[in-house]
Amino acid sequence: MTMRDNKKWQKNWQQDKLYADIFKKRATGELPEMESSRAAAKKILKYFKSGYSMLDVGCGAGHYLNSYDRQLKGKKYTYVGIDASKRYVDIAKKVYAERGNVSFRVGSIYKLPFKNKSFDIVVCNNVLLHLPEIKQAIKELNRVAKKVVIIRTLVGYKSYYIKNVCTKSDFEYINVPDNDPFYKDGSPKNFFYFNIYSKPYIEAVVKKYSPKAKVKIEEDRDFDVKNLAKNKKDFRGRINATELAGSMQASGYILLPWAFVTIEK
Ligand SMILES: C[S@@+](CC[C@H](N)C(=O)[O-])C[C@H]1O[C@@H](n2cnc3c(N)ncnc32)[C@H](O)[C@@H]1O
Repeated sequence: MTMRDNKKWQKNWQQDKLYADIFKKRATGELPEMESSRAAAKKILKYFKSGYSMLDVGCGAGHYLNSYDRQLKGKKYTYVGIDASKRYVDIAKKVYAERGNVSFRVGSIYKLPFKNKSFDIVVCNNVLLHLPEIKQAIKELNRVAKKVVIIRTLVGYKSYYIKNVCTKSDFEYINVPDNDPFYKDGSPKNFFYFNIYSKPYIEAVVKKYSPKAKVKIEEDRDFDVKNLAKNKKDFRGRINATELAGSMQASGYILLPWAFVTIEK
């Protein structure tokens, strides 16, 4: 069941031309820097040393690289981006063709094609919330990291499985076969996960695979309200606009408890 769901999710990304276009524009700099990528880049500063190697899992078109470059200001490092979607990886390869010390490949977080401790820093932004299960993913991120893993995902006080059901009218970029979004048994034909995991659950999973690791979970509410308002017109309508409720991002009526999970090995 869960792996079938993951295949479906990956297919959605593969087919998704609109997201590909947005990712591309972020990579080329046509769209402004995301609040989350700036925050993610700031997070690695404490751990970064010149000459380090970095792996970005679920990198999309590699667009977070711009923020890492901005924060790391001329420091040398090698960057490898991996994503399950060939469409995004192909865009990344084109956009960053001229930049040295960078490579991209297609692959899954569930089976990373790298040896143990291959990278000083492993980052994984905005991916875990969308996966059907995260134990194997966290195991893999830990396995390939030498010094630190930094994950941006939704972390709350309880764990919730949320399926954001897609209909043709809601999400024009998703391939829904007809206007009935549910199968006869009531399960959704097409959906996005927006899963939230509790702090104790994430800590337990990390401890299971990396007993000596130090886990830190910090809320990410680093949203610049003025910046969001200024850039709103650049995001195609409601789909990609970041809405805030108080200091939290809101997706419709669901508040998103964004957090950084830092695993020091
Ligand atoms: C919300 S996007 C995040 C992209 C980028 N990290 C960012 O924050 O903008 C989720 C990404 O995860 C990728 N993805 C989905 N399932 C994956 C898997 N099993 N292994 C690797 N990447 C996956 C998707 O193709 C997509 O690029």
